[in-house]
Amino acid sequence: MYQKSTFKIKKDPIILGLESSCDETAAAVICGRRLLSDEIISSATEQAKYGGVVPEIASRAHTEAVDEVVCRALKKAGVTVKDLDAVAVTYGAGLLGALLVGLSFAKALAYTLNIPLIAVNHIRGHLAAAYLVDVNLKPPFITLLASGGHTAILHTESYTSFSMLGSTCDDAAGEAFDKVARVLSLPYPGGVNVERLAAGGSGSIKFPQALVSGGNLKFSYSGLKTSVINYCHNAEQKGEKINPADVAYAFQRSAVDPLVKKTVECALKAGVKTVTAGGGVIANGYLRSSLSEACAAAGLKLVLPEKRYCTDNAAMIAAEGLIQYNACNFADMNINAQAQIPLK
Ligand SMILES: Nc1ncnc2c1ncn2[C@@H]1O[C@H](COP(=O)(O)OP(=O)(O)O)[C@@H](O)[C@H]1O
Ligand SMILES: [Mg+2]
Repeated sequence: MYQKSTFKIKKDPIILGLESSCDETAAAVICGRRLLSDEIISSATEQAKYGGVVPEIASRAHTEAVDEVVCRALKKAGVTVKDLDAVAVTYGAGLLGALLVGLSFAKALAYTLNIPLIAVNHIRGHLAAAYLVDVNLKPPFITLLASGGHTAILHTESYTSFSMLGSTCDDAAGEAFDKVARVLSLPYPGGVNVERLAAGGSGSIKFPQALVSGGNLKFSYSGLKTSVINYCHNAEQKGEKINPADVAYAFQRSAVDPLVKKTVECALKAGVKTVTAGGGVIANGYLRSSLSEACAAAGLKLVLPEKRYCTDNAAMIAAEGLIQYNACNFADMNINAQAQIPLK
């Protein structure tokens, strides 16, 4: 009988992570902080036909993929379900139908095996990805979180607690990338296509960088997005041709530079020696090289997850699962999926 209070904590547990909050069905296995396997089946190509994620298509794709992705992850890790010490699964935020596929699967597995079920906040998963990069990484550190729904700088004080030093007043950085992709008629997924286009651009255009001065830690992306839209519409009205690669190049700089600058400022101000980063926008090559250079120049150690662990994946869910496991934070079987959950 599943009773969460009766589970004993093991050192270096084997944890299965499951992620199904959007269009990626993903499963990963970790042993302690060591990643044993990490599998993804994506419905992004199907979604691209519609220009974005269609929730019902995502849910059906998860239903078809979940069993296979878990079997693959277990096989690659060289373990069977009997070796698992816990199952960690994203319960929010995300598309409800999509989340329910992963959550129901994880519940059934945890119940049958009588092992802890760990409910993971997807965004905290993005933050935990760094723990798998450097097995010796310990708080305190400063994290730059830049995803489709969040843009923030966080001070992680312990494995389970952090404070928010700054965040966006309007759009998230990833959201701005996606909106600019649409203005430039780029296909889904937007962010990576803006980056590809920007690679062929040069600095002939300048867009404003919001709120960079004055030491304030707020970000704002709606003004930058509007500048890009206005630039494109004005050119259209005048019958002038724009150079989309230059637009993408200029936008990318204006979007990324404040993130890098403020993250380094925060780390220096907090007297913290280590910086980590997480979320889809951290897969951006320009951001990665700028942040690496800025941290090196400031004498800060940067722990940067590989690109595939910045966008949605299950390794990060297993990593956050390990933190919750060590804190004995197990879920009840009646836990439900949630479309929205606060970061904290
Ligand atoms: N190479 C890239 N450059 C810029 N943005 C990117 C890149 N790859 C992904 N993104 C952005 O990351 C976001 C998705 O990341 P994710 O962290 O999963 O968001 P969330 O979890 O908040 O939904 C999207 O907005 C996407 O445009
Ligand atoms: Mg995500």
